[in-house]
Amino acid sequence: MCGIVGYIGEQQAYPILIKGLHRLEYRGYDSAGVSLISDGGDLNVYKSKGKVSALEEECKNQDLSGTIGIAHTRWATHGEPNQVNAHPHYSESKSLALVHNGIIENYKSLRTQLEGYGMTFCSETDTEVLVQLIEYMMKDHNCDLFTGVQIALNYVVGAYAIAILEKEHPDQLVCARKGSPLVIGVSKRENGSTEYFLGSDATPIIEYTNQVVYLQDGEIAIMDRSGRLDIVDLKNSPQTPKLATLQLNLDQIEKGGFPHFMLKEIWEQPNALRTCIRGRVNPANKDVVLSGVLDHKDRFLNCRRIIICACGTSWHSALIGKYFIEEACQIPVEVEYASEFRYRNPVIFSDDVVIAVSQSGETADTLAAIELAKEKGAFLYGICNVIGSSIPRATDSGTYLHVGPEIGVASTKAFTGQVITLCILGLAIAKVRQTLSDEMYHMLVDELYKIPDKMQWTLENNKDIDKFAERFTYCKNFLYLGRGYNYPVALEGALKLKEISYIHAEGYPAAEMKHGPIALVDAEMPVVVIAPKRGMYEKIVSNIQEIKSRGGKIISVVTEGDTTVRGMSDYCFTIPDTRDCFVPMLAVIPLQLLSYYVAVTKGCNVDQPRNLAKSVTVE
Ligand code: AGP
Ligand code: GLU
Repeated sequence: MCGIVGYIGEQQAYPILIKGLHRLEYRGYDSAGVSLISDGGDLNVYKSKGKVSALEEECKNQDLSGTIGIAHTRWATHGEPNQVNAHPHYSESKSLALVHNGIIENYKSLRTQLEGYGMTFCSETDTEVLVQLIEYMMKDHNCDLFTGVQIALNYVVGAYAIAILEKEHPDQLVCARKGSPLVIGVSKRENGSTEYFLGSDATPIIEYTNQVVYLQDGEIAIMDRSGRLDIVDLKNSPQTPKLATLQLNLDQIEKGGFPHFMLKEIWEQPNALRTCIRGRVNPANKDVVLSGVLDHKDRFLNCRRIIICACGTSWHSALIGKYFIEEACQIPVEVEYASEFRYRNPVIFSDDVVIAVSQSGETADTLAAIELAKEKGAFLYGICNVIGSSIPRATDSGTYLHVGPEIGVASTKAFTGQVITLCILGLAIAKVRQTLSDEMYHMLVDELYKIPDKMQWTLENNKDIDKFAERFTYCKNFLYLGRGYNYPVALEGALKLKEISYIHAEGYPAAEMKHGPIALVDAEMPVVVIAPKRGMYEKIVSNIQEIKSRGGKIISVVTEGDTTVRGMSDYCFTIPDTRDCFVPMLAVIPLQLLSYYVAVTKGCNVDQPRNLAKSVTVE
């Protein structure tokens, strides 16, 4: 999720740590902190909400001495962004300080157990449970930090990258990872001592050394200035550190080796959605668990209408949510542009459920729309990505996407994260209202769980888009067509293209062609058609024939194995088969890639397109 920096050596640690945090700012974060073992032997922790610059203000006039330290930029998942929840977190005795990236899924049960042993907590985070657990294990097993970490992590379910300081041992730094990256930089000094640098990626490290060890999942490491670097796995079996040489430059590392954040985030979607559904979709018993619904069952049982308010891409995911929730829950769902809804004096009933969908959680129109709904007594539900942002704080309940910071202005992983979250929401409501048969419910849950793997397949089997995208850079107009669940995908594909390549594009229900748009069709206007072997396949084939008979160029998205539409297409993307309602999460991927490569070939700034902001916090 966010950023870790660490250092042990002979230099003063603070400047290295702060510079490392600045290097990691690109990842997006909401608070920051640093911990140092001072030259006088104190274990100091300084942290603040907001930017690294705010942390530097916090650190002024403090004891910043010490040649060992850890630092953190937080992307909150549990506990809103504030000074108390920021990292590093002390253990109860204040002899340990820990920073963490990731999510401890079972933190609640662990916290309850530790409270049962009389331990107290001062934050709302899952992270504090980890540092308390480690201290507990050290005392309970009368062991050192390295062993205590290894024992404690065997009780942990979830993803973590951690670094820990122990006041009594300023000569050692301990770290571990599982599911979140952690890199160890190694630098041998001329006097024979060794410096170790830690980073969530190599950006905080590369200016000091290009020799690195990539810690592997399930590994725990301890290092010191003598050059000791011992690594064990969770079974305490020694692992051999594998030294590697960094090949990437700083700019490349920030983007994970991708040329742009947008492409990185397109490829992140399978893992981002695995994190999103973790703990919510259970493949073993084919069930979904959504606390935002379970905590307000009656509301969802008795509501007679759902209204979803959103803007832009979030409005497109809302439209897919409408189709799914209506089909699964037999309840009317209205999707509203927040900017229209807020000024229209809409009719809102007190038993309405009003859902706000927003990646940033700060979109002014969406926030205003739910404030209006609140005044009229509706129950408010937020689906957002940024923890503690305005919309989640204004709603009665909600679900966070947990897809990690989305840096590219053009929304990709947040869109598919919103769609899968709306599907989980629909299943959770259907379970409460008992509107799905057990067989259908379990079948949908089972297929939903497979979607991230099918997204990975889609990414890996459509790699030649960059080769033919350049043929479309001359185009002035595109048409995107889809039916049913894929009509919102047509809208989203068109938005992606126009917002980053500045080529005009329109999304339409395919059947609407004959009501006007078909007059536009000629050889100069590519028509993108989403034509999965599901839903109204034969009808979409007819639409394609209508277009081809007027000289139109067809770019199609088809189901693996399809030959009919493939044979009618000038260019063809393939997706794995899945249920009609889940096709959008796969069909959108080739369209994201198409818009990306067309825009890049045109030389556009895909991460920061002209005139656009990542979050429209003004009207
Ligand atoms: C989508 O690529 C755009 N960045 C834009 O349409 C965006 O979806 C819209 O501004 C809504 O933002 P939100 O999800 O943060 O509310
Ligand atoms: N889950 C932890 C928290 O919410 C860490 C979040 C992060 O990866 O920055 O504090």
